[in-house]
Amino acid sequence: MGSAEYVAEHITEILEKYGFDTEVTYGPSLKELLTKGIWLIVCSTHEAGDLPENIQLLAKEISEEKPDLSQINYGSIGIGSSKEYDTFCGAIHKLDQLIKDHNVKRVGEILEIDILEHEVPEDLVEVWIEKWKEKIIDLDK
Ligand SMILES: Cc1cc2nc3c(=O)[nH]c(=O)nc-3n(C[C@H](O)[C@H](O)[C@H](O)COP(=O)(O)O)c2cc1C
Repeated sequence: MGSAEYVAEHITEILEKYGFDTEVTYGPSLKELLTKGIWLIVCSTHEAGDLPENIQLLAKEISEEKPDLSQINYGSIGIGSSKEYDTFCGAIHKLDQLIKDHNVKRVGEILEIDILEHEVPEDLVEVWIEKWKEKIIDLDK
């Protein structure tokens, strides 16, 4: 419905300003992704804690093909609605666990955006991304 895309695009603008080279993919398949570098996953939750349809293929491919993700560092941002659903941000936690199961280390904490509290989540995202990008820069030191 657009929230995740909006957040991803906003983050891209911020990271580009800091000189990061970014590429946004919307519900990619595994072969469209580099398996070396940094992934920042932005994912809303649909249907009782489930993954949105457009990211189900990637999750299936990771779980079945068990790719080597040892060259990846990643961050996670979830979007959901805590007042309407018990399974708040369930999808990002599922994805996060799936990637962790491949022995990949997450950089930073998961950011959970509660869409009713942060209808325009820029402020929240901007604070989080400032800290996250510092951690990414530190990886190279
Ligand atoms: C049918 C439906 C089911 C949802 N289920 C959940 C849920 O289980 N947990 C949650 O935290 N949010 C849930 N949400 C809230 C969405 O995650 C939220 O509206 C989000 O902004 C949607 O982002 P998107 O537009 O990128 O898909 C649900 C929304 C809809 C419409």
